[in-house]
Amino acid sequence: MNISIIVGLQNRDRGIGFEGGQPYHSKQDFNRFKELTMGSVCIMGRKTMDDIGRKLPGRECIVVTRNKDYKAPQGVHAVSSYEEAKAKAREFTGRRVFNIGGSSLYKIGITDKDTDRIFVTRYLGHKECDRYFPRFEMMFEKVFETEKPKKDTDSKTDEEIFFHFEEWVRL
Ligand SMILES: NC(=O)c1ccc[n+]([C@@H]2O[C@H](COP(=O)([O-])OP(=O)(O)OC[C@H]3O[C@@H](n4cnc5c(N)ncnc54)[C@H](OP(=O)(O)O)[C@@H]3O)[C@@H](O)[C@H]2O)c1
Repeated sequence: MNISIIVGLQNRDRGIGFEGGQPYHSKQDFNRFKELTMGSVCIMGRKTMDDIGRKLPGRECIVVTRNKDYKAPQGVHAVSSYEEAKAKAREFTGRRVFNIGGSSLYKIGITDKDTDRIFVTRYLGHKECDRYFPRFEMMFEKVFETEKPKKDTDSKTDEEIFFHFEEWVRL
């Protein structure tokens, strides 16, 4: 099976999260995420599910947790390992599959040969982060990058934010 990773990372240190949330909040990035993942199967870690808080509309959501008593949000499938998540995803024949994070799921995804593509939003900023995306540039090749940085206003802080969209494929 083919799995795509989708991530918004900070260029400086590959930071992706802080205190359970995301450091950047761009409507353009949100729309790209929605466009790419709509109709797909999204695999995520339990903490990312907690951050999102509900099933992503129009997508099958699979959450990975070691907690056997975990109460998944309505319509979300809970599994106990990444392998089990992949097996569950295979049941949705013909659907694209995404690993949407967080850091622990990205770490597994990067070394999993089924991950053939990474959609990166690369933020040009200096925010404090406590979760990071693993190094991946030696295993993947960049096949697309927006020429000029895109600009948006952070929907939470009202600050100007700049970023590139990129696409990488496994070497
Ligand atoms: N910038 C982005 O694109 C992006 C995307 C997604 C998330 N994030 C951010 O990343 C942060 C969350 O990342 P995180 O690494 O702390 O958490 P996470 O990967 O979302 O979830 C971690 C949890 O997933 C479960 N898990 C992980 N590996 C497992 C395995 N091999 N088998 C079974 N269960 C497993 C465990 O759940 P239990 O504890 O329930 O057992 C673990 O505590 C947040 O700040 C979030 O906002 C950023």
